Amino acid sequence: MAMSAVAVPTSGSDIGAPGDGQPQWRLPDAGWGRKAADAATLHEPQNIREYVAMHQHLKVGGGTRLLDVACGAGLAVELAAARGATAAGIDASARLVAVARDRSPEADLRVGDMRALPWADHAFDVVTSFRGIWGTTPEVLDEVRRVLRPGGLLGLTVWGHVKASPGAWALRPLLWAQASQVAHQAAMNSLGKPDVGERLLTEHGFEAVRRVVVPFVWEFADPESYARAVACTGPGYEAIQAIGEERFLHDAAQLAAEHARDGLPLRAEINLVGFIGRAPAPAGTGSSFLAEPVELTPAAAASYADDSAELGYVMNATRLWAHDTEALELLFKALGRVSRTAGLSIRDRGILVTAAASTLGDSYCSLAWGGKLATAASAQLSAGVLSGDDSLLDDRERALSRWARRAAADPNATTAADVEPLREAGFSEAQILAITAYVALRVAFSSVNDALGAVPDWQLRAGTPEAVLAAVTFGRAPAAGPGSS
Ligand SMILES: C[S@@+](CC[C@H](N)C(=O)[O-])C[C@H]1O[C@@H](n2cnc3c(N)ncnc32)[C@H](O)[C@@H]1O
Repeated sequence: MAMSAVAVPTSGSDIGAPGDGQPQWRLPDAGWGRKAADAATLHEPQNIREYVAMHQHLKVGGGTRLLDVACGAGLAVELAAARGATAAGIDASARLVAVARDRSPEADLRVGDMRALPWADHAFDVVTSFRGIWGTTPEVLDEVRRVLRPGGLLGLTVWGHVKASPGAWALRPLLWAQASQVAHQAAMNSLGKPDVGERLLTEHGFEAVRRVVVPFVWEFADPESYARAVACTGPGYEAIQAIGEERFLHDAAQLAAEHARDGLPLRAEINLVGFIGRAPAPAGTGSSFLAEPVELTPAAAASYADDSAELGYVMNATRLWAHDTEALELLFKALGRVSRTAGLSIRDRGILVTAAASTLGDSYCSLAWGGKLATAASAQLSAGVLSGDDSLLDDRERALSRWARRAAADPNATTAADVEPLREAGFSEAQILAITAYVALRVAFSSVNDALGAVPDWQLRAGTPEAVLAAVTFGRAPAAGPGSS
């Protein structure tokens, strides 16, 4: 059977006969869910290169709140969770979602219609869809934008120039469906054409839209397993409805046999296109006033990974400084050096940072370091320093907190007498310089974060003692967490 037109497997959204009592969006289950175990084990693992590449492009990692739209049997959800993401997925096929739940019991997996996503606004950092959103379902893009946080990323894949692909033969059985279905598949497959996907995503409000390289190869042990893997897809089912299952399996296996290779698996490399777009972040609603870089430098990617490993999420300050992670590293190197010269313990640094940050009105560092000081000392002591009450500090610590406030509030208003308590506490001249530099460098860090609107991470609310939270009555409020919008 010759390949006469550009037609490719589709989401199968229109499979089934309307009017049989169930909503239209449930109909894909007839094709995709019919042989769910085959789809999960023979078909879906073929797409693994695509999942890994897109997760890498989207920097999916620890703490990423990710939704996979048209998640099928949930292999992509499982892989995202393996990278540390908090994963969710939705698919119209109840039988595929059952497999996805079996694979990822922790994930939030729902049977439903991608045109009406059952999640709150801004619930996700990343939304993926692997060959699930098509030219015929543009309204889904509005739903995706709604559930993405401002600045969050959409990554979707669609078929590219299939006819020019070395593995085009592997999609040929899908042309054995009725002509009207083949025509519909071709209509769905328009996004991969030059500029079409970019235009559609931009029209639906996404920014910084770009194409990315996505490897896609199907490999099969033998012609029979190939035939079964294609038969369990939605468009495969359309072809089976037209010519019958027995003939479909026979003809597909025969087609594949023409491509068999001695000692090697059958291999079909197919051109796939990936798009990445960013949900707009109106001023004051993103992680800061600056848009997050779409392409991370290796240093920025490493700092995201460090945050994820250490905290389970990427701090908004890290996202802001991703525009020049090296500058931040230099700043922290200098902080480390002066801290060592001054001989500052974690508790000393907590006192200096909370005293300076609260003087500046910087809620972000006050919360982050208020929590650390609470751990190193106590929540009451930390809340006290944040509110200007040093009664739980000893004389040496009091010298530190008072000097931090003086230097941060107005360095031109200090006097020689202000330095004296530091000497009395036993600090040398070199250490006093180092302590002052430590405060000044923290002021620089706070100033950049505050001036550029870095929003304290919502996770700080959960991880910070009540007394400390209550003491931070100034600065920008922490971001709203999931479920609070
Ligand atoms: C080409 S498959 C892709 C599945 C999966 N993303 C993968 O990588 O294998 C398309 C999927 O879209 C689902 N689907 C079709 N229409 C849908 C709708 N309106 N809402 C949710 N899922 C839908 C089908 O059930 C099917 O699992």
